[in-house]
Amino acid sequence: MKTLVLLTALFACASAGIIKTVLDLDEVNAVSNQRLLAPVEKCEQDCLTPAEVQFYSGNRPCRESPCEIYTGEKINMIVNFTAPNYLENLEPKLDMHISILSFPVDIGEPNACHQITNTMCPLVKDEPVSYKPEFYLPSLIPDKTVASLQLSLLDKDTNKSVFCFSIDVQLLSN
Ligand SMILES: *[C@@H]1O[C@H](CO)[C@@H](O)[C@H](O)[C@H]1NC(C)=O
Ligand SMILES: *[C@@H]1O[C@H](CO)[C@@H](O)[C@H](O)[C@H]1NC(C)=O
Repeated sequence: MKTLVLLTALFACASAGIIKTVLDLDEVNAVSNQRLLAPVEKCEQDCLTPAEVQFYSGNRPCRESPCEIYTGEKINMIVNFTAPNYLENLEPKLDMHISILSFPVDIGEPNACHQITNTMCPLVKDEPVSYKPEFYLPSLIPDKTVASLQLSLLDKDTNKSVFCFSIDVQLLSN
């Protein structure tokens, strides 16, 4: 009798474990359904926050804040947004904020149109756009520095930002 009770208890625990595993799988599916979206924040300035942003450091996608970046890793972003109006000349602007300091980060390609992967400039109003910038951060930043990267796209014909967002990162040296 005692053995039976014990067995029943063990079985109950085991099935609870199975149920938990099933729940965990659901969470995993939920994450992949979100297509590995990175946590982004609105900018203070008044402009569009892109609907979908993916952030990769090396080949690791970032899904939670802060996004970890190891020294020397190439950073890729995929920024999907809807063109708010006709756009012909687009220039990216990337700044890194560390505490109260801010400095520009060079995106090798100053013409954002060249890094749009699904269509070509000029863009028409309401067109879905997938922009894929790649860049490196300066390597002289101390280990464990927490920073925020702010990316915006400037419409050079009006000098207005098309979109803007920021992403929190932690820089690691090893
Ligand atoms: C962004 O758009 C591209 C091209 O349409 C698409 O392949 C990709 O899955 C989109 N990314 C996200 C995160 O939805
Ligand atoms: C945009 O800014 C540039 C330089 O800051 C200036 O030369 C140009 O005239 C401006 N264009 C418009 C449409 O305001």
